[in-house]
Order: sequence, then structure tokens, then C-alpha cells
Amino acid sequence: MENSQASRNGKPYLLPDKPLQSLDDYIAIGGLKGLERARSMTADAVIAEVKKSGFRGRGGAGFPVGIKWASIASDPCPTKYVACNATEGEPGTFKDRMLMRRNPYQLLEGVAIAAHAMGARKAFIAMKRTFDQAIERTAFAHREMTARNALGDIPIEFVYGPEDYLLGEEKAMLEVIEGREAMPREMDYPPYVLGLFAGYPSCIPGQTNPTLVNNCETMSTITHIIRNGADWFQSMGSADTRGHTIFTLSGDVQREGLYELPMGTTMRELIEKWGGGLRPGRKLKAIFSGVASAGLYPESIDTPLDFGSMRNAGSGLGSAGFMVYDDSNCMVQVAHIFSKFLWIESCGQCRSCKDGTYEATRGLENLINGTGNEIDIEAILQASINAPRGNRCFLPTEHSLIIPSIVRRFGQEFAEHYNRGCRNCRVPILPKMHDYDEAKHEFHYTHGRLTP
Ligand SMILES: Cc1cc2nc3c(=O)[nH]c(=O)nc-3n(C[C@H](O)[C@H](O)[C@H](O)COP(=O)(O)O)c2cc1C
Ligand code: SF4
Repeated sequence: MENSQASRNGKPYLLPDKPLQSLDDYIAIGGLKGLERARSMTADAVIAEVKKSGFRGRGGAGFPVGIKWASIASDPCPTKYVACNATEGEPGTFKDRMLMRRNPYQLLEGVAIAAHAMGARKAFIAMKRTFDQAIERTAFAHREMTARNALGDIPIEFVYGPEDYLLGEEKAMLEVIEGREAMPREMDYPPYVLGLFAGYPSCIPGQTNPTLVNNCETMSTITHIIRNGADWFQSMGSADTRGHTIFTLSGDVQREGLYELPMGTTMRELIEKWGGGLRPGRKLKAIFSGVASAGLYPESIDTPLDFGSMRNAGSGLGSAGFMVYDDSNCMVQVAHIFSKFLWIESCGQCRSCKDGTYEATRGLENLINGTGNEIDIEAILQASINAPRGNRCFLPTEHSLIIPSIVRRFGQEFAEHYNRGCRNCRVPILPKMHDYDEAKHEFHYTHGRLTP
């Protein structure tokens, strides 16, 4: 099995080799001990343990979980909520769905621990309504755990939202939990306090109730940190980023898949050892961790995969979903699928975002169809760099990080397209996953919405 390595950094703890079938299976491997321990501790002690572990969130930004928990817990408003982000819409990422398919119990236990630490009134788990297997597995586990009173007194509710990428943006996710569309609400800039249900029963009229938002893998990992202690967690991973993560590896490798490995594993090891290397005769051209960072290139293949090292290498870890492109790819086409995705997924509330992502996509289309030249390159760069002006969310910033990086890195290749276009260039598909075939080590992709 892909995740069965026992390394000096400890055995896999997140992904069991096979899906757990029942709560009894879960209890047999130590399940529910984390929540039992949390409930024997004060909320402050649980938060202190999370802080001590040095755990950084797995939703993409690597924000320290203990600091986020302490800030919500210390908010004077007495009514609090917890919202787990299991909406997973980033191209190249499938780890949260895999976690829910294989072990939904640890996610529910982690959410119950977070709810206890926040003294929450209620917790939510949001995912996309297309996540058939994850929905079925988590609902089944929830029914079993509730019937045996295994989750404590704080109710956990599921919210099933639309296919939109923006559903994963935390402010949009809170909108959907409140029954509205996946459109990021306007807020002051960080450090803001996210909240739900303005005016009910908020302590300050018109304000929302402070809400802790953490990713699905983050919540699943919490279960193990509280069960085994901060020192155990600190003993794994790299100095920058402790613990394991689940890497999603896709694209031009021999074995696509999901691999639970310690943070700090190098990109070379991930591709060569776990992914089986590139296809015969091909050379590495670029690797993208979702669509929110600049790419990682062949000279950086020995970069340790943690938040700090990836940032220092000019890229980013994101949610650890890596899309590999070999030398058979046309980078104008690759830039185009990412740009078009971000344009389509932009909700249009901020003009510079919708216009900038559109203009850049149009410039890339000109280069592909043979009507483009250096004027389009300048237009693409300007549109992308200006897209985040006055933005409510990070989506246009993602565009401004990934698209100019591709244009600049592959300037010569772009120039070869001037007034000529793509000739027999490989046309990539948008690597947005909807299923994983474990036997074949292959992801199944969807193109998502192709028209805005
Ligand atoms: C456009 C956009 C899409 C996002 N999609 C996801 C997602 O699918 N899952 C997720 O956990 N975080 C996503 N995020 C990040 C969340 O806003 C939030 O930071 C994260 O859920 C916090 O989790 P963590 O602190 O546990 O890492 C997205 C952010 C943006 C701007
Ligand atoms: S920045 Fe873009 S995606 Fe975000 S709210 Fe504004 S228009 Fe919508």
C-alpha cells in the first residue's frame, strides 16, 4: 500500500491501509482516546497542548493552529462555533476526501475536541455535495458515534455546498453555512475574527459569533496530537513543519497517488521513490502545488517539502497536492488552464479580480491561437499583477503568483508562440480530481465548470 512506510519519523497515523468499517475498528486502533483525554483537561490545557506541538494548519497557509485556537477562545463573546473546511476544491488535491473515505472517525473526533476547546455551541463540517463517498462515510460514522454517545454534547452538523472553488475560501464557506451563496463576505484585513450568525445570539448586536475554521486534515491530525501528546508530534517532520501530511501526487509520474509522509521529505523522494519517477525518456519541466503559488523547477527538486523550505525555494507547500509536468508540455497551455480556472471561479464581486483574470486568460488564448505577441505578454503580466487590487479574498493573489511566474520562467517558449500559436502542442486538462482508482494509481479528473 502506498502509505505503509514505517520511517524514522514514525508510522503513518492518518491514513489506514484500508477504510475503517466500524466504530469498533476505530476503537481497536486507539480511537476516542483523544477526545476522552481532552474532556479530562480544561479547554486552556488542550489549547496549550496544541500550541506546544507547533502544529501548522494543513489548509494551505500553514498558520499555527494553537495560535488560531487561542485567539478564538480568548474572544470576549461567549458564543462560539467551529467550522471544519472539508470542501477541497484546489486542483491537484484529493487528501481530504481520502481521509474521510478511509477514517472519518478521526475527523469527527478532532472536530469534537476543537468544539470542546472552544466551548462551542455547535460545530459544522462543510464539504461539496458531489463528494458522494466522503459524505456517505462521514454520515455513517457520525450516526454510529452519536448512537453510542461517543462525540460529547456539542452537536456536529454537515453542510453540503456547491462545486465552486470559492466554497473553500473561509469567508465564502461561512456564507454557505448560513444558507447563502459561496461569495466571500467583506471583512477587514487579518487579523480578523471570522464569525457566524450575526446578531444571534452574539454578545454585540450586529456582530457575528467567533468561529474557528480549520481544514479537514488539520482536524483529523488534532485527534492524534491530543491522544499522543505534543512531544510525540514534535518528534516527527521537520523543524519548520512538524508531523506528517498526505501528499497528493499527480500528472506526469508513473504512479499517481496519495502518500502519507513526514514533512521535510524531499520533492525528489516523493517523485522518484513514491511516484515511481517520470515516464521513460521524459524530463521534469515544472511542478505546481495547486494554483496558489509559483512553480517549483528541476533545479529545486531536492527541496524539503515543508512550508518554510518551499517558500524559500520561491514556491509554496499549499495543501501538499503536487501536479507534475514533464517536457512534453507546452507551458502556454499550462498557464492557460490555470488562468482560465481562476477567471471562471472568480465570483465577480471585485472588478479588478474578474477583469484581471479574464484579460490574462484572453492574452494566453491569443498566444495559443496565433494572434498573440509581446504586447499580449505585457498585458498578461499587468492584468495578473493588478488583479488583486481591492480584493475581498486571496483568489486573484493566487493568479498573480502563479501566472507571471510561468510567463517569466518560460519566456523563450512563450516568444516562440508569437504570431504562430500552438502547433501540435499537448493540451493539458485541468487537474481537478473527482475520484482516485487505487488499483491503477490513477486519478479521475473533472473539467469543472467550463463557462463562467
Ligand atoms: C480560493 C480559496 C480556496 C480555498 N480552498 C480551500 C479548501 O478547499 N480547503 C481548505 O481547507 N482551505 C481552503 N482555503 C483556505 C481557507 O480559506 C482557510 O485558510 C483554511 O481552511 C484554514 O485551515 P487551516 O488553518 O487548518 O489550514 C482556500 C482559500 C482560498 C483563497
Ligand atoms: S477577490 Fe475575486 S473571488 Fe474574491 S471575492 Fe473578489 S471577485 Fe470574488
